[in-house]
Amino acid sequence: MSSQLNVFLNGEFLPLADAKISVLDRGFLFADGVYEVIPAYAGKLFRLQQHLDRLNSSLAAIRMQPVMTDLQWSKILNKLLEPHAQSDQSVYVQVTRGAGVNRNHQLPEQYEPTMFAMCQPIVTDSLDTIANGISAITLDDIRWDWCHIKSVALLGNILLKQQACDQHCTEAILLRDGFATEGSASNVFIVNNKRLITPPKSHHLLPGITRDLVLELSMQAGIDCVEREISELELFSADEIWLTSSTKEIMPVIELNRQAVGKGQPGDVWQQVASHYSQFKEQLRLL
Ligand code: PDD
Repeated sequence: MSSQLNVFLNGEFLPLADAKISVLDRGFLFADGVYEVIPAYAGKLFRLQQHLDRLNSSLAAIRMQPVMTDLQWSKILNKLLEPHAQSDQSVYVQVTRGAGVNRNHQLPEQYEPTMFAMCQPIVTDSLDTIANGISAITLDDIRWDWCHIKSVALLGNILLKQQACDQHCTEAILLRDGFATEGSASNVFIVNNKRLITPPKSHHLLPGITRDLVLELSMQAGIDCVEREISELELFSADEIWLTSSTKEIMPVIELNRQAVGKGQPGDVWQQVASHYSQFKEQLRLL
């Protein structure tokens, strides 16, 4: 990212190189903060309301009030996107509990939140590669029990992701007590006998915005959709496996733990839903 590009920090727009926070920021010391990643196509924010609602739910879960109104966020994020009307961007938003006077585990009674936002290009080449199908491995979900919060404490997620990368795979599908929860940075779906299955929302997974849209579009397309637990056994015998996220959209998994998933290529149901997803995106571009 160019250091000349403007970012937003605590009410100001300034070049990245000039954006500074205190070393006493609780986000830095304790990962005491939450974030969002919002895609924007041709300058238009995708599912903004849903992302802002989730931001406020994450804040509430860590005992913080909303730091701004939705309208204020919308103005800020749109201003950041002004120079990028021709490209697809991913907008990063982070809110922490701000800097204390010293390092203290206890939550401060009063605080000035740190509010940060920036954007960076979504790499469409990598989306095209992803559409050919990715490889994944399964790993034990070693993370904490509050994975529904979009917390900046991502050490568990990044170490799991790295284990997948070390094995030349794109993602890790996480298993807790014999059931798939989600990917290290994505939600999981399987297709079995044309039925689309994804784990129900719980404290063990992030309520993904892409997950919800994929369910919505699949139901509209007349696909049988079920939210229920997916056992490890079922995962390995699935006809199709998909992983979804805002920046990677719907990734067809064609290989799991070095074994082919289904026919070892992106499946028919994926083709159908991915095409509806693209159409949905294109409509937004034209608005
Ligand atoms: N992560 N689960 C986890 C653990 C994630 O980190 C993400 C996305 C998702 C998918 O959520 P959504 O569809 O709302 O993007 C599920 C983002 C993209 C990130 O951390 O960069």
